[in-house]
Amino acid sequence: SKRYTITVLPGDGIGPEIISVAKDVLKLTGSLEGIEFGFQEMPMGGSALDLTGVPLPDETLSAAKQSDAVLLGAIGGYKWDNNPKHLKPETGLLQLREGLKVFANLRPATVLPQLVDSSTLKKEVAEGVDLMVVRELTGGIYFGKPRGIGTNEHGEEIGFNTEVYASYEVDRIARVAFETARKRNKKLCSVDKANVLEKGEEPVKVQENKELTIGVMSPHTAQVVAIEDTLGHKDENVNGFTLKVKSVDGFQGGEEDIIIISTASMFWRKRVTAIASEYPDVELSHMYVDNAAMQLVRNPKQFDTIVTNNIFGDILSDEASMITGSIGMLPSASLGASGPGLFEPIHGSAPDIAGQDKANPLATILSVAMLLKYGLGEEIAAKRIETAVLDALNKGFRTGDIYSAGNKLVGCKEMGEEVLKSVDAQVPAA
Ligand code: NAD
Ligand code: IPM
Ligand code: MN
Repeated sequence: SKRYTITVLPGDGIGPEIISVAKDVLKLTGSLEGIEFGFQEMPMGGSALDLTGVPLPDETLSAAKQSDAVLLGAIGGYKWDNNPKHLKPETGLLQLREGLKVFANLRPATVLPQLVDSSTLKKEVAEGVDLMVVRELTGGIYFGKPRGIGTNEHGEEIGFNTEVYASYEVDRIARVAFETARKRNKKLCSVDKANVLEKGEEPVKVQENKELTIGVMSPHTAQVVAIEDTLGHKDENVNGFTLKVKSVDGFQGGEEDIIIISTASMFWRKRVTAIASEYPDVELSHMYVDNAAMQLVRNPKQFDTIVTNNIFGDILSDEASMITGSIGMLPSASLGASGPGLFEPIHGSAPDIAGQDKANPLATILSVAMLLKYGLGEEIAAKRIETAVLDALNKGFRTGDIYSAGNKLVGCKEMGEEVLKSVDAQVPAA
């Protein structure tokens, strides 16, 4: 039979509670599907700090790298909040993601019919939502340099971080997103802040009375601004300039006199737009992040696949989770070009409910399903777990965060036991 080694990192707070349940689910599913798992449990986060003095011990990272997949609970807690940066649990998590080179973070937000009443949004808004956030995970402001605390020209103390993306980083996450959208409803929305971030190239000087063809790699509103920046004028026919402006859709590249890529979170947008030519079957749109945050609660069903940078993806996925009823429902898969993937719920260590058997283990159990599907290619076993989760919900079992009237309130352990029963009860597919 098949055998896989799984590095298990319970972490802090509710981490050990949800991991214990999820590990049992993985073990039982494996035994029913003819898959054997060797688990190696390693310290990580605050508990590793207490034990070894660092948030990600070398042994933990090398074990993770040598395994077939990594399962993480959650890290962090009040106790370590005031530690210097290199001694924070969160730093350990960033080091782990960087060390495993898992640049693509898939965070699906699906409103299950069983949980429509748990959403804080109206039934007709939440019902049927099924979207995927593709979050860039190893770049952007989380890792950009320069960063730190310093002094400005007036002698005042300043804190600074840098949002920086290399073209290869945007290109590869864009490709993952297009591939993801291709397998879904073929609609990709790239979320950025191209209207504000990173003012790029110097305005181009143009000769009077020359007919220019200008290719603009931006949507219409940004286009006008870009032309204004370039020519110092708003109109498209002024002072003898004749402009032939190509829209984004028509933009091919090559025959233009000027290509404006001036306002450059544009850079993100430019790269995603360039990669789009490889995926003509996927419909690409762009949205500013503030609007996206609003649209997610106004009409979330407009979204299929969303691709965005590290920090916007962090924020938007927490927001999207609440549409589904609770952050305790959202799993994630973090994948690189090769090597083991990292699988974890999107929520944190929930110190406010830690140790009370109140945590919802379903986000972690669903992360185990993603581990099987995306990490090991074991789709049948993954399906078994997903079905078991639906089954437990169908029977009315609810942890506090997704509880609604008429259901059975259970703790973390009991929810886990119900999922285990459902994993066991399923008749294997013929
Ligand atoms: P959090 O996600 O831990 O908790 C936010 C709220 O959601 C809390 O009220 C919590 O009780 C609730 N919640 C979260 N998961 C739940 C679950 N499974 N079931 C029921 N309720 C749940 O976010 P926070 O409070 O901002 O952060 C707490 C700590 O976790 C911080 O140290 C933070 O840095 C860390 N954190 C870690 C991760 C991670 O390990 N990937 C993610 C986010 C935050
Ligand atoms: C997450 C968390 C982490 C992040 C923190 C704990 C570093 O919020 O996994 O979403 O910001 O990526
Ligand atoms: Mn987060």
